[in-house]
Amino acid sequence: MDKKFKRTTVTSALPYANGPVHIGHLAGVYVPADIYVRYLRLKGEDVIFIGGSDEHGVPVTIRAKKEGITPQDVVDRYHKIIKDSFKEFGISFDIYSRTTSNVHHKLASDFFRTLYDKGEFIEKSCEQYYDEEAKQFLADRYIVGECPRCHAQGAYGDQCEKCGSTLSPEELINPVSKLSGAKPVKKETKHWFLPLNKHQDWLKKWILEDHKEWRSNVYGQCKSWLDMDLLPRAVTRDLEWGIPVPVEGAEGKVLYVWFDAPIGYISNTKELCDANPEKYGKWEKWWKEEDTRLIHFIGKDNIVFHCIVFPAMLKAEGSYILPDNVPSNEFLNLEGDKISTSRNWAVWLNEYLVDFPGKQDTLRYVLTANAPETKDNDFTWKDFQARNNNELVAIYGNFVNRALVLTQKYFDGHVPALNEMTDYDKATLQEFADVKERLEQLLDNFKFRDAQKEAMNLARIGNKYLAETEPWKLSKTDMERTAAILHIALQIAANLAIAFEPFLPFSSEKLRQMLNMSSFEWNNLGRIDLLKTGDQLEKPELLFEKIEDEAIDGQIQRLERIKKENEVSNWQPEPIHGESTIDDFSKLDIRVGTVLECQKVKKSDKLLQFKIDDGLGGRTILSGIAKSYPDPQELVGKQICFVANFPVRKMMGIESQGMILSAVNADGNLSVITPSRTIANGAEVG
Ligand code: MF3
Ligand code: ZN
Repeated sequence: MDKKFKRTTVTSALPYANGPVHIGHLAGVYVPADIYVRYLRLKGEDVIFIGGSDEHGVPVTIRAKKEGITPQDVVDRYHKIIKDSFKEFGISFDIYSRTTSNVHHKLASDFFRTLYDKGEFIEKSCEQYYDEEAKQFLADRYIVGECPRCHAQGAYGDQCEKCGSTLSPEELINPVSKLSGAKPVKKETKHWFLPLNKHQDWLKKWILEDHKEWRSNVYGQCKSWLDMDLLPRAVTRDLEWGIPVPVEGAEGKVLYVWFDAPIGYISNTKELCDANPEKYGKWEKWWKEEDTRLIHFIGKDNIVFHCIVFPAMLKAEGSYILPDNVPSNEFLNLEGDKISTSRNWAVWLNEYLVDFPGKQDTLRYVLTANAPETKDNDFTWKDFQARNNNELVAIYGNFVNRALVLTQKYFDGHVPALNEMTDYDKATLQEFADVKERLEQLLDNFKFRDAQKEAMNLARIGNKYLAETEPWKLSKTDMERTAAILHIALQIAANLAIAFEPFLPFSSEKLRQMLNMSSFEWNNLGRIDLLKTGDQLEKPELLFEKIEDEAIDGQIQRLERIKKENEVSNWQPEPIHGESTIDDFSKLDIRVGTVLECQKVKKSDKLLQFKIDDGLGGRTILSGIAKSYPDPQELVGKQICFVANFPVRKMMGIESQGMILSAVNADGNLSVITPSRTIANGAEVG
């Protein structure tokens, strides 16, 4: 760490408490933040790791309304689920609190008031959509209508989910309120704005000149914002759920969720320090002293808020430090498609743990190996399996296990002596002599993916060393040499326990216990005296287990099922085809008939054979709908419609005298058309 800093405040984006967290959250924000913090702690640095739930905002109120419960009920439920998931995955927050806490309400409210008193806001009246039936101003998400770009129905006031366009509510064609279904009207309302334009100059210098080292995706996004003219941003909303705006004339208004949420980092620090002042000291130390380094871990959709809006708020307040770096990841996709909560296209952490109990480190490993650090990346179940089986099990686990098992077998679990080293031993040790430096170089620059590769490389060195020296063979002839080899292998294993701790904390803990390591410090990395000759080791256990095809197939099938369900619910009617005339229509003789018999045609998996009472003596019709009616008996006795004047056709040796009418769904499922009331067989349809 840079000499000018004495301590580090690490924050990770506060997830919305309106649903559980998924692998995208973990990969994008929480695993990298946790790796970084664990690394600093292991180095003995002064660091705090702040997390919490973001519990205000419109999505919470929408979910509450949908389920007929209160917003507080919603956030209570998800705060707990999210907090538990993070704990299970070893995300080592010093505090995980929430923005509905009293500490936060007070601190955020005071923060607003300070800016207000300093004249840092501008007050503006504007017209906004209002629902006269619900007697409420409408948040963008509460207004739906036709998309002005792609003309899909059901676009939201801020976004069309069909074509992805960003919208403003005014642009929607035929807007309606989601609250009451009423047509919203424009009504005047007053809000407070943070004049970002006033901050543009220093922001430009601070980011574009003084922070050229930020990741290129972050720097690039900031640059494209700062190259345009920044506009004042409203920091209040007409809503009931949130922190009341603490000034007169603001009844019924709350702080905009993006104003209060980042202040949550500060409130949670305060809560932490106030509860444990001996350990953490005063909260201000972590936010207001120049020798504190502030790092925000976030996803790419949060960049502008953390690099531009929040710093402008902090600067306007006047007593806070600004972030030193904002390592933001791009997005993780799932099997080639964007992760989506509403489409259930995700791997939920709570569900993962049910399917893969105890395999937290495997997921952490795979997510870091595929971390979307510079571009979007893809998670696939096949890759997950391959990385577990071919890397964790076959390299790291295998190496450690062989070293430990052989030590048990030949030396009764005591670290054997190293009396002499060969050139090959020396060359091997040389290969990992600078592992500490290489890892630090990468970790200090937030390159977690490469850093993890470097740690795995150390396991590869060990694995290769055992494969080439073959102590299991030597043990028959040369016990002294066997001892030397295992001594070296065990030192490498001890190094692995340290090197992997930030990445795979559960396995490292297990390995550390098996090796009975008394000291466990980052600064010892690269040393070959971590274990002493004669030290007693514990009985070895496997660090990782192979994942079988069945488990992976089950996950893939689940996703296929979800994809099918989404296709059906996303279905949009075909546009009307061409034009036809009454004359065209009248050429078709469509009639009603009753199904007398219906059965599958032998040797065909598509065809059903119908016997129809058509009022004219009966006929046989074949129809390719067997897949949609696995039990054809359900059609017997029903009235159906059929085209009666098609020429007779022969299929599978049977004559078909017409065509049964049915409608087709997006997933290919068919439904036979029936008249809504009983009608005489043979009646014409027209
Ligand atoms: N809840 C936001 C999201 O999930 C992140 C808030 S980060 C904070 O996108 F800084 F505002 F806390
Ligand atoms: Zn659209």
